Amino acid sequence: MATRRDLRREFRRRLRAVTEDPELEADLILTRVLKISRADLLADPDKTVKPDEIRLVERLVNCRLQGKPLPYVLGEWEFYGYCLKVTPAVLIPRPETEILVDAALEAIPPDAEGLAVDVGTGSGAVAIALAGARPRITVLATDISLAAVAIARENLARHRLQERVELYVGDLLVPIKSRLTSGRLLAVVANLPYVPTAETAKLAWEPVVALDGGPDGLTVIRRFLDQARDFLPSGVPVFLEVGYGQAEAVRAEVLRRFSGADVTVRLDLAGIPRVIGFVTSADGQGRPAANRNPDLTS
Ligand SMILES: C[S@@+](CC[C@H](N)C(=O)[O-])C[C@H]1O[C@@H](n2cnc3c(N)ncnc32)[C@H](O)[C@@H]1O
Repeated sequence: MATRRDLRREFRRRLRAVTEDPELEADLILTRVLKISRADLLADPDKTVKPDEIRLVERLVNCRLQGKPLPYVLGEWEFYGYCLKVTPAVLIPRPETEILVDAALEAIPPDAEGLAVDVGTGSGAVAIALAGARPRITVLATDISLAAVAIARENLARHRLQERVELYVGDLLVPIKSRLTSGRLLAVVANLPYVPTAETAKLAWEPVVALDGGPDGLTVIRRFLDQARDFLPSGVPVFLEVGYGQAEAVRAEVLRRFSGADVTVRLDLAGIPRVIGFVTSADGQGRPAANRNPDLTS
């Protein structure tokens, strides 16, 4: 009978072929199958593992060896402290997207009441992080993918946020257009596809609709900005995640539609400009989020 120690050793050896951290990955797969914590795994290395559990670990490790990303192998991934279900129907939430959440939360005071919007919600990661951190807001979350919205719905239920996050299927802001004109709109966040089409092939496991931003990566972002100009009232802080090297081009796209806007840029932990922020204005006098009309947020 194989023990936990035997399996850790064997699967680490095999996983070395596909990852720089075979120890961690082997342990994460084992703990997922055995339904125990890593501390338990380490505390009781001589415990034997049942044959059906070994077979399941084998299957998951084989998927990993075929290149499937670890979050899809595990079926869940952590974002902003929330464990989320992830399948190949949704993008794997990235750590840099936590900066998008931070930016939006800075614009939404802790006791604020009103609406926030998450465009392209995918697994629901950003919407869940916002609703979890601001107990009195409602988040309107949209996605073009019905399959993604189904996963987001499961994640909302998992974290008991289904009453506070409304899901809509459709194009960008279109499905919630009528909700954007009234009430307190505290912030709009969007992590939209921004990978240039030619570069999407190497990201084969994730859904194309979550990645493909057209020839220069900015097609969906431009359409979002058109809708933001046409549908959003003035005074709304907007935050957009962008890809490597895209910040200046996106800033220019913002200014083309919101002339005079004060466009802020946040860096990610690698120093890459990652989040573009601005405040909508009808009069072309954009202001930074921190200076926006307090009536909208208190
Ligand atoms: C980069 S993923 C982001 C997912 C999630 N917000 C996150 O940060 O992990 C982009 C998401 O936008 C959605 N999407 C793509 N085009 C869209 C559109 N025209 N309208 C609404 N959502 C769209 C995709 O289905 C995908 O879920």
